[in-house]
Amino acid sequence: MQNTVEVSGKIHWIGTNDRRTHLFENMWPLEHGVSYNSYIINDEKVALVDTVEIGTAAEYLDKIESIIGDKAIDYLIVNHMEPDHSGAIGAILHRHPDMKIIGNIKTKKILQAYFPVAEENYMLVADGDELDLGYHKLKFVMTPWVHWPETMVSYDMTDKIMFSCDAFGTFGSLDGGIFDDEINFSFYEEEMRRYYSNIVGKYSNMVQKAFKKLDGIEVSMICSSHGPIWRSNPQKVLDLYYKWSNYETERGVVIIWGSMYGNTEKMADVIARHLVTKGIRNIKMYDASKTHISHLIKDIWKYKGVILGSCAYNSGMYPKVAQLCSELEHMQVKNHFLGLFGSYSWNGGGVKNLMKFADNIEWDLIADPAEIKGSPSEANLDQLEVIATEMAKRLKEEFPMDH
Ligand code: FEO
Repeated sequence: MQNTVEVSGKIHWIGTNDRRTHLFENMWPLEHGVSYNSYIINDEKVALVDTVEIGTAAEYLDKIESIIGDKAIDYLIVNHMEPDHSGAIGAILHRHPDMKIIGNIKTKKILQAYFPVAEENYMLVADGDELDLGYHKLKFVMTPWVHWPETMVSYDMTDKIMFSCDAFGTFGSLDGGIFDDEINFSFYEEEMRRYYSNIVGKYSNMVQKAFKKLDGIEVSMICSSHGPIWRSNPQKVLDLYYKWSNYETERGVVIIWGSMYGNTEKMADVIARHLVTKGIRNIKMYDASKTHISHLIKDIWKYKGVILGSCAYNSGMYPKVAQLCSELEHMQVKNHFLGLFGSYSWNGGGVKNLMKFADNIEWDLIADPAEIKGSPSEANLDQLEVIATEMAKRLKEEFPMDH
């Protein structure tokens, strides 16, 4: 028996779960796995919407066969060429050599770099082009850089279904529940914010452009390529995506530090205590050496306040904090209040380099950095209180109704 799920009449989910891979893109942890969603529209013409990562292709091919039997696939719609969705193209072409691969001109260029596809197999589409499958009629909307330059959305005008590929996707395998009314939403919301911030967030301005372009399109269901199908309230995830791509945050502080022998960590605890006494309730604290930057970035995307600490490590920043700062700069994350602290040790370097990060990222540095030689003592705790006081004040001004 193949685990396929009817989405709407002639449309089936034929995705796969990957609970074996440790790191998505060999970079981002998959503690709870991930799904690669593909859809088949078994209409007068048969169309596949995206494929799966090559490691799960055998199961995937069986699923296709369980739906269409001996019928040929007429079209494969490639909304996005990243191999987690395009990995099985070669295997499908092998079984369906006359299939047309639908993509835009950028899709074709990337596809040529990954698979040997004969010219006659390509079917190029441009923004707004339509495809008649019989009952279902699709429209293609170009949404470049959500997440690669060729990304596009396929919209079923018949049932108002948006096939959005990475957009609205989540980490986390589909453990029985395929639709949003069958799952624990709060789990997937966290995993969705992690997917967004880690994978798509760098292109937030392009996500905003895609929103403008798709504005006014009626959506009954969002079928993304990772995680649940959003059918009970698609507006809920549209709103979340709008908020995240607009860098809208909440009242709270993420405190992250790197500490060799605990002195910088002691400073983090002092700051956190002062934040609480000044009315801040959402405080997330992370030792950068223990938590992967994937999760740190996810929480930074949620909370307005970020306080970073580093000991001096070989006259530089603590390496894991440096890695986080480098990734945040690379992603061009915007719109945060920033506080800095750290231990000078014997030669400094931690706070000095955090200051360089502050210059580069251009967040709102809310107070002078607190740098302490060696271990914090009663004599030098005031500067930590200043950071917490100013952070709490700014957050309460920005979010007067939150707690
Ligand atoms: Fe899920 Fe950009 O690939």
